[in-house]
Amino acid sequence: MAEPLPYSEKVMDHFTNPRNVGEIINASGIGTVGNPVCGDVMKMYLKIENEIIVDVKFKTFGCGAAVATSSMVTEMVKGKSITEALTITNSAVAEALGGLPPVKMHCSVLAEEALRSALKDYYTKQGKPVPFEEKGHAHEE
Ligand code: FES
Repeated sequence: MAEPLPYSEKVMDHFTNPRNVGEIINASGIGTVGNPVCGDVMKMYLKIENEIIVDVKFKTFGCGAAVATSSMVTEMVKGKSITEALTITNSAVAEALGGLPPVKMHCSVLAEEALRSALKDYYTKQGKPVPFEEKGHAHEE
């Protein structure tokens, strides 16, 4: 008998049926982040109107937890203001997925970083100062 997978049903659902996969043409902000340890890469596209994230898409070349967390983060930020989106942490994303095994928590960090990187790109494209701090890299978590 195979060992049961250490993933919640929600993780499996978002992994097998990820939401908001793809890209946005003329995105307001694009963020690409990678984890140098595992080599996984996540790209996030945001469409922002009047400081509201009206659309979001992602592409993840990575593990199942990275796909599931990026899918979940897109659901969490869609329709939210930038200020609200910035309060979303990797642990909130993991929690929304019903938890992740400890060795997979770094994958959720990638999702948070991709979001922040896309928001940073948005501010840079607008010629505005970035109103938040950069976080550390995923491999340091
Ligand atoms: Fe690399 Fe999950 S193992 S992001």
